[in-house]
Amino acid sequence: MMKRISILGSTGSIGTQALDIIEHHQDSLSVAALSCAKQLDLLRDQIRRFHPAAVCVAREEDARDLQAEFPHLFVTYGMQGLTAIASMEDCDMVLNSLLGMQGLEPTLAAAKAGKAIAFANKETLVAGGSLVMETVRENNVPLLPVDSEHSAIFQSMQGSSSPIRRILLTASGGPFRGYSREQLEEVTLEQALNHPNWSMGAKITVDSATMMNKGLEVIEARWLFDMPLEQIQIVVHPQSVLHSAVEYMDGSIIGQMGNPDMRVPIAYAFSYPDRLPMTGSMKALDLFSLTGGLTFEPADREVFRTIDLAYEASRRGGTWPVCLNGANEVLVAAFLRGEIRFIQIQQLLEEVLNRHQPLYELNLEGILEADRQSREETRSLIRSLGN
Ligand SMILES: NC(=O)c1ccc[n+]([C@@H]2O[C@H](COP(=O)([O-])OP(=O)(O)OC[C@H]3O[C@@H](n4cnc5c(N)ncnc54)[C@H](OP(=O)(O)O)[C@@H]3O)[C@@H](O)[C@H]2O)c1
Repeated sequence: MMKRISILGSTGSIGTQALDIIEHHQDSLSVAALSCAKQLDLLRDQIRRFHPAAVCVAREEDARDLQAEFPHLFVTYGMQGLTAIASMEDCDMVLNSLLGMQGLEPTLAAAKAGKAIAFANKETLVAGGSLVMETVRENNVPLLPVDSEHSAIFQSMQGSSSPIRRILLTASGGPFRGYSREQLEEVTLEQALNHPNWSMGAKITVDSATMMNKGLEVIEARWLFDMPLEQIQIVVHPQSVLHSAVEYMDGSIIGQMGNPDMRVPIAYAFSYPDRLPMTGSMKALDLFSLTGGLTFEPADREVFRTIDLAYEASRRGGTWPVCLNGANEVLVAAFLRGEIRFIQIQQLLEEVLNRHQPLYELNLEGILEADRQSREETRSLIRSLGN
C-alpha cells in the first residue's frame, strides 16, 4: 500500500534525505505535502519532482508567489499552514524535520488528526515532552524516532517486553572531545561546524560541538521510552558505529550498528515494522574496516557543562526544559551570526537558567509563553554584553 508522507522541513538536512528515500521507493512511498522557510528555489524543485498536493512556506508573500506559479497546489503559510499540512486528510504519516520548538504545534495537530509521526525534531520533545506524549497516547498514534540514537534504542527494544536496566546513549563527542575549558575559549565557528562523523544542519552541528545535542537527546529519550533520567547513560563512542544500545536486566546489551547515515533511521521510521533495502549511495558497514577498534568512554561533564544543565532542567521539570531549549536556540543562532563566542553558549545558558522563574502546571499556552520569555531573557542578556 502507498504511504503518503507530509514532510515538515523538506529542504533541511533530514528533509532532503527523507526525499532521497522516497525517490528510491516510489512503489510504496509518496509525498503528500512539503514545507520550508527560506529555500524557495529548492522547494520549487521538490514540487516538480515529487508532485505534492500541498506546500507550506513561512511567509505570506512567498505563499502568494508560489500559488501563482503552481495554481493546482494548495499553498499555505506560517504556523497555521504547518498545522494544516500536518493534519490534512490525504496523508498517512507526518515527518517532523523542522528545526526548533516551532515543531510543537504541528506535532500536536498531527497526533490529534490520527497521523503516524516520524519524529526528528527533538527540541519539541524537550520543551513539550509531557504534552506531546499525552496527546500521542490519547490519540493512539505511533511516534517513530528518527534521531539515529533513538532509532537504535527503538530497534534494540523490538521483540522484547523485558524491563530495561539502562539506555546507553552514544555520542561521538563532537569535534572538541578531549578539549579543556581553556581550549574551548579559542574555538571558531568554522571548527564548530566541522563535525567529525555526521553531516547535519548548522544548529544541530553546533549542538553536537557543545554536547547540548546529547543533553537534548537524554530528555528526548526520557519521553520516548518513558525511562527515568538516572537510567539513561551517555557513552562517548568516537567512531559513531554503535548508534546506541539498551542493557537488559540480565546484563545483555543489545544495540544497533551501521554506517553513520541518517537515511537508515529515516527509512526505518517510514517502513516500520518492516525494513527497506539500501539504495543509491547507502552502504552496509564493513566490520573489517574498523581497524582502529571501537572505544567507549564517559562524557567530560566538567568541560561540557551543557550535559548537566540538561539533566538538571529535566529533573526539575515544569518550564525548566522549555527555558533550556529556548535559550539554547537563541544562543546557537547568535553564535552562528558571530555575535557571541563558542564558550559563551554554555556560560550564558547557565546564566539564563539561574534567572528562570519556573512554572509547573503546563498546557500549550504555558509552554509557548515560557519559551517566549526565555528567548527574550536570552536576547537581552546577549545585548547587555555589547559585543
Ligand atoms: N540533520 C541531522 O542529521 C539530524 C539528526 C538527528 C536529529 N535531527 C533533528 O532534526 C531537526 C531538523 O534538523 P536539520 O539538521 O534537518 O535542520 P535544517 O537542515 O536546518 O532544516 C530545517 C528545516 O526546517 C525548515 N524550517 C525552518 N524554519 C521554518 C519555519 N519557520 N517554517 C517552516 N519551515 C521551517 C527549514 O526550511 P529552510 O531550509 O527553507 O530554512 C528546513 O527545511 C532538528 O530538530 C534536529 O535536531 C537532525
